[in-house]
Amino acid sequence: MTSQYTHGHHESVLRSHSWRTAENSCGYLLSSLKPDMHILDVGCGPGTITLDLARLVPDGHITGIEPSFKGVLQQAQADAVAQGVSNVTYSVADVLALDFPDASFDVVHAHQVLQHVPDPVQALREMVRVTKPGGFVAVRDADYKTMVWYPENAGMSQWLVSYDQLARSNGGEPNAGRHLLSWALQAGLKREQVTASASSWCFSTPEDVAWWSSTWADRVLSSNFAKTSVERGFLTQEDLDNIGQAWRDWGAQPDAWFAMIHGELKQEARVAALQAEVESLQKELGYTHPYDVFSTRFDASRENVDAEAINKKHIKLLHRYNEAKDATQILIGKLATLKETTIRQIHDDLDLHDSD
Ligand SMILES: C[S@@+](CC[C@H](N)C(=O)[O-])C[C@H]1O[C@@H](n2cnc3c(N)ncnc32)[C@H](O)[C@@H]1O
Repeated sequence: MTSQYTHGHHESVLRSHSWRTAENSCGYLLSSLKPDMHILDVGCGPGTITLDLARLVPDGHITGIEPSFKGVLQQAQADAVAQGVSNVTYSVADVLALDFPDASFDVVHAHQVLQHVPDPVQALREMVRVTKPGGFVAVRDADYKTMVWYPENAGMSQWLVSYDQLARSNGGEPNAGRHLLSWALQAGLKREQVTASASSWCFSTPEDVAWWSSTWADRVLSSNFAKTSVERGFLTQEDLDNIGQAWRDWGAQPDAWFAMIHGELKQEARVAALQAEVESLQKELGYTHPYDVFSTRFDASRENVDAEAINKKHIKLLHRYNEAKDATQILIGKLATLKETTIRQIHDDLDLHDSD
């Protein structure tokens, strides 16, 4: 099943999405970006987040993808040219079968995309596949059931119920935010490799409320939501008119307030990479188990003494040595994670040498 994008790219939808910035929509990943990173922005839409991310990786590159080039990507590309951002490329690709080789990107990002995809676990598998070892996947998604507002408004409540019906009839999951961690585990990520967080949007100033309510009033009446809700019998044209008016009425209240939670998921690939680094170092050192190391390095027949006693002593010593070495490596690994740097850098900072 291919994705059917519930909102479509009507001007009223794009007006809303173009308000988004890296700061208000993917703040949870910004501290992990490095200037030379290569990013994939899945389902980039009009690309305002994409352009912000491009500016944060001036020595790197960002690729924004959408299932079709028509309309939204053309506009996104024109905006990049107009704003003089040259380290961005837009191309056509489907997150369910990404047309990129394994390990192509440092960061694979999606904002409010998985809620629209019929198989979000497969989408995450693909996103992980194209992420380089040492890179990370980062997703943030809306959770419609967490939308709350004041004053109460029956038309907006009807809108939320019918949006849920419509999104599900398109194979989506409108409460995606709360599912992200579960989907990531189903996609094969380990619990210790991911952090799951949440952040909100809140519209409460008169300007924000006026903007938010008028874009939704227009979306209700003019976007794919209007056409498809009526076609599928979820709403009548009269319902749409009432819901549009309800948004406007709510937005005209001096005490109007609206908030919604987003779920966030970030793959802590750096931890995984550090673990892999420890494992490969151990392999390189020939360390699997103290007894194995001992049996390959110690030839008791050359000693004119009680071989068994020497064996025991050496085994004990090796055991202690390995325990101390493992503990040190773990501590250095943890320190590297805390400082968001590499084990090699920690060695350099502490002036440790291979011979130490
Ligand atoms: C809610 S918009 C988010 C746009 C942008 N990420 C933002 O937050 O401004 C979701 C986008 O995902 C895209 N999309 C839907 N299904 C997709 C798929 N299978 N692969 C890639 N993109 C997809 C839609 O075309 C749409 O532009």
